[in-house]
Amino acid sequence: MPTLETVVDGIKLPNPFIIGSGPPGTNGNVIGKALDEGWGAVIIKTISLDSSKVTNVAPRYARLRTASKEIIGWQNIELISDRPFQTWLDELKMLKDKYPDGVVIASIMEEYSKDAWIEIVERVQETGVAGFELNFSCPHGLPERKMGAAMGQDNAIMHEVCKWVMGAAKIPVWAKLTPNVTSVAHGAASALSAGCQGVAAINTILSVMGVDLETLRPEPTVEGYTVPGGYSCMAVKPIALRMVKEIAETIRDKYPGRSLSAIGGIETGKDAAQFILLGGDTVQVCTGVMKFGYDMVKGMKDELLSFMASKNFETIADFKGHSLQYFTTHADLVKRQAEAKAKAAEAKAAKAKGVVKDGEWKGDEFVQQSDALARG
Ligand SMILES: Cc1cc2nc3c(=O)[nH]c(=O)nc-3n(C[C@H](O)[C@H](O)[C@H](O)COP(=O)(O)O)c2cc1C
Repeated sequence: MPTLETVVDGIKLPNPFIIGSGPPGTNGNVIGKALDEGWGAVIIKTISLDSSKVTNVAPRYARLRTASKEIIGWQNIELISDRPFQTWLDELKMLKDKYPDGVVIASIMEEYSKDAWIEIVERVQETGVAGFELNFSCPHGLPERKMGAAMGQDNAIMHEVCKWVMGAAKIPVWAKLTPNVTSVAHGAASALSAGCQGVAAINTILSVMGVDLETLRPEPTVEGYTVPGGYSCMAVKPIALRMVKEIAETIRDKYPGRSLSAIGGIETGKDAAQFILLGGDTVQVCTGVMKFGYDMVKGMKDELLSFMASKNFETIADFKGHSLQYFTTHADLVKRQAEAKAKAAEAKAAKAKGVVKDGEWKGDEFVQQSDALARG
């Protein structure tokens, strides 16, 4: 019987399905609900020391639908949590008491200040959370304060902040990377070389959902104006898979043993299997939970288990990164195709001459075969 139980950076998880930072982890009650429904872990909505600086607007979501009304793309201009830091500390302690074995990971973000980062790490880890995810990736609003993606887009700053955090953290630390860069692998390397146990990717992709052709205003419109936002949901999955693959190769080649939490458009157990095949230790789901609700995890777990059973994989480790070996260069594809064509032509010519392989003989083929193979 395959098992979904896994251990990542020393954290014991009942399964690799993690709630990604966002609305589904926005307070202690819903985090508790997610644990009750069977999620392997919950990453809380990103918090900072001073929530009074965070002011959200509405509407802050815009969705892309197919002709049959299915939501396939989701843009948000939501900021990090606007709930007070002390409230969060109390709720995280309450969760530790109520769910001693439940895995809660704190997503944190601060300005470019060593003292601020050390303070948030020290005060949050006292609550008993299992690990940290450093948000270097929120693409809208926070970069105006030089936070989030503004840090993640500067590898030197991200490296420095990761070092500050690693100097204070006593629990595993993942750096959450922005996809809004030329090389996500370089971002991963700058966090991992600073000592982070792992990385998580991707956060949302900077986007503009559309322009209303009646009002001529881009969406989502707030008092007639907008800002580019973060794109998520199943439409981003192919981009996320490519980025996860690039990070996984960096980990394999330069930072073996470090972890990767894969994110981006995951909605099913089969989606999860694909991200794990490309190197994810765990998978995170955010928008999917906003579409389908917390209990979607049950179907995802069943689907991943039946995939594993169909391929005789016993554990997540048995297939993590398996499909990376099938990426190569374009020149190699050309060479392989030329070789395959030559082989097929050879087989066709042999068949035309009446020659079949020895193993394919069914009866008296050798009579015809020896004629075709003989010189005279
Ligand atoms: C409404 C919304 C709010 C989000 N808030 C946060 C956040 O506070 N911190 C964070 O690290 N990521 C945040 N994210 C990004 C998600 O955690 C995730 O990286 C991204 O949406 C891609 O995954 P998905 O397609 O499963 O949603 C948010 C996403 C959405 C849709």
